[in-house]
Amino acid sequence: MATVLKLGGSVVTEKDRDETVDGPALDRAAAAVAAARSGAGTNGGGGTNGAVDDLVVVHGGGSFGHPNAAEWGVTTEEGTDDADGVLAIHGAMTTLNKFVLRRLRDEGVPAVPVHPLSTAHRDADAELTLPTGQVRTLLDEGFVPVLHGDVIAHAGEGVTVLSGDEIVAELADQLRADRVGVCSTVPGVLDADDAVISEIGSFEDVADVLGGSDATDVSGGMAGKVRELLALDAPASIFDLDALSAFLSGERPGTTVRGDAD
Ligand code: IPE
Repeated sequence: MATVLKLGGSVVTEKDRDETVDGPALDRAAAAVAAARSGAGTNGGGGTNGAVDDLVVVHGGGSFGHPNAAEWGVTTEEGTDDADGVLAIHGAMTTLNKFVLRRLRDEGVPAVPVHPLSTAHRDADAELTLPTGQVRTLLDEGFVPVLHGDVIAHAGEGVTVLSGDEIVAELADQLRADRVGVCSTVPGVLDADDAVISEIGSFEDVADVLGGSDATDVSGGMAGKVRELLALDAPASIFDLDALSAFLSGERPGTTVRGDAD
């Protein structure tokens, strides 16, 4: 059974300063992941004694990728066929991916990159294909695969953005994840009084309170997240960095999103 964890781009970067990592936040996230896998130690097969066995990490862009995507007019639906645009957006995301990997490795986590541009595509109906055989095999071999929001080939559009949230949803389904966590800058989905909504069962429950994201976000903000998570078989948790360790140790902090598929 697998756990899919998304580290929101705005958690691990300073979202208002272009291409700036939030070092302390990334350190905390990496330490929480390492602690949850304590006993793992090696990166070549063998299980772990920690609470989290098979863990896939997906990170977003925050101040990486989104500004480039905006500059090139690229969204999850609108593409570019300019190779410079592809390289600018993908390059920003792989730069952030290297930072994330570095911090995880520094904590002893056997983290290795998986870049969606090299494997995924959308067809002319925008249907996503994201192969996961390599992710499954990396897990079985004791690694922690680290994917990231990216640009991917899109028939008739050039490339479009594949958000980390879409990756989480796809991985959760294909890997039959039993736990899905989205670590965000807020402690959960907030109601009109800024209190955490503990459980969401349909989009109508929260349509009134879900606004857009403040900074440039080409892939939907909290509303997009909730929609993606409602479609999953597994219940998903939305929480902040303070609650990451709790989630990884088996609790359900923040908001639990349970779609009809449950
Ligand atoms: C960013 O991924 C993808 C690109 C802009 C290329 P996300 O959309 O998942 O990033 P965050 O977590 O919302 O920042």
